[in-house]
Amino acid sequence: MAENVVIVNACLRGKNVSRTYELGNFFVKKYMNGKKDAVLKEYLLSDMDLKPFNKEMIEERDKEVSEGKDDRLIKLAEEFSKADTVIVMAPYWDMSFPSALKVFFEHISVCGVTFKYEKDGTPKGLCKANKAVYITTAGGYIGDFNYGYDYTKGLFNFVGINDVYFLSAEGLDIIGNNTNEILSNAKKEAEILSEKF
Ligand SMILES: Cc1cc2nc3c(=O)[nH]c(=O)nc-3n(C[C@H](O)[C@H](O)[C@H](O)COP(=O)(O)O)c2cc1C
Repeated sequence: MAENVVIVNACLRGKNVSRTYELGNFFVKKYMNGKKDAVLKEYLLSDMDLKPFNKEMIEERDKEVSEGKDDRLIKLAEEFSKADTVIVMAPYWDMSFPSALKVFFEHISVCGVTFKYEKDGTPKGLCKANKAVYITTAGGYIGDFNYGYDYTKGLFNFVGINDVYFLSAEGLDIIGNNTNEILSNAKKEAEILSEKF
């Protein structure tokens, strides 16, 4: 079976200017190199206009799950659950990531599709993927405040994606820092990660 690689692109400033996209795209190229049969699917969040869940949407989604339909609000979760490999690209915003990514996570977190509860209440992830990478860039240094990655890792583990890696380029907005050098060092790390990923 062809490997199904999914990119979740939360680089809202766009492909031409986003440093996160530059690093993420570099990783993707290295990772996809030689994988002739792999299928790449990109969720470009800036173009998707996903709505945050409200009361009506939750009710509608519950109805779709109970009726076994995947025509609207659970379609994305169905697709995501079938990915083999997940690559998230998200800039470090307000100590985590753009809210568009949280909204995407709301859409893929569906009980009965990406996770379920066993009879004794134990949660069980239903996603096929066993690996993901979270790629970010930050104006300053993330240090212990890696809430975007930590949350993503927690959620991915919950839906059954066990190995979640982290890749970053940091300090990009600090005056006096050599942005090109920081990005080029991060790309070296990206290349190493793409080989063991
Ligand atoms: C809305 C917004 C919020 C940001 N919040 C932070 C922050 O909390 N900490 C930080 O170090 N940098 C912050 N930054 C700077 C970005 O992390 C940095 O410029 C990053 O490289 C942007 O990624 P991009 O080029 O992919 O858009 C923020 C930038 C924006 C636009």
